[in-house]
Amino acid sequence: MDEDLKTSAKGKILSIRDLPTLPKVLDEVSRLVQNPNTTIEAIAKVISRDQVLSAKVLKMVNSPVYGFPGRISSIQHSLVLLGFNVIRGVIISTSVFDIMSKSMEGLWEHSVGCALATGLVARKAGLKDPEEYSVCGLLHDLGKVVAAVQLPELHKAVAETVRTQDLRWLEAEKAVLGFGHDRINAWLADHWHLPATIKESMSAHHAPERAQIFPQHAAAVHLGDFVVRIFEYGSGGDDQAAPLSSQALKALGLKLSDLDSVLDDFGENLSEVSGVTFAPEDSTPPKGNACN
Ligand SMILES: [Fe+2]
Ligand SMILES: [Fe+2]
Repeated sequence: MDEDLKTSAKGKILSIRDLPTLPKVLDEVSRLVQNPNTTIEAIAKVISRDQVLSAKVLKMVNSPVYGFPGRISSIQHSLVLLGFNVIRGVIISTSVFDIMSKSMEGLWEHSVGCALATGLVARKAGLKDPEEYSVCGLLHDLGKVVAAVQLPELHKAVAETVRTQDLRWLEAEKAVLGFGHDRINAWLADHWHLPATIKESMSAHHAPERAQIFPQHAAAVHLGDFVVRIFEYGSGGDDQAAPLSSQALKALGLKLSDLDSVLDDFGENLSEVSGVTFAPEDSTPPKGNACN
């Protein structure tokens, strides 16, 4: 693909702002959090105005993924316990998947599973604020679904390339689009002014050794992605096994045996998570193989 086409593809992806179904709340909250004087009450008020969205956010934050199952009663409470960044990440993922869940079947389950697994990895590594890691896992493949909606023809070509050439989704994206969802993730993170921890984990989850500033976030998501694929929970578009980066374990001070125990924890929690109907629009059961 030549440079002009790449630029126009990037432009189309970023026009996600114009998608009519993304809640206005998203823009408003993003603006508010730029201002250091904004209070939690003010943010909570804006989010709570959108009752449908609030209900979805509460459902998500009360799931076992975030460590406070069934204990968060209001948006304000969720902001106090989990912080702006986590709640905004949840709003973004819920909103995007709301309109896009049908574009890539199984990706929502893959993302929620990755959020759970990434949080478990962070806990195993003894990292502070594991829920911040969970939200990185939740958003890690967002670029795939945004591309699916903004570039439907190219998305079809990527899926076709995966099928006919037996490639991983990331490799097929690079062959068809000239860039992968890791790159799209970085654009989206800039576009939404996401914090650097989330941005780097989204853009480096396939190559955590490339993370310059927050190697632990990228490493945790890389391992979370690996775990959810082992369980074949949900789908990311292909059924290829991805290599496990030994750097990721090193960056977190974990051994392979720790990863084994994360797999056990994941298995124990998965039934609870999959018991909750997360799918924003429909509750189609997950199917197919997960991928990276
Ligand atoms: Fe990915
Ligand atoms: Fe993934």
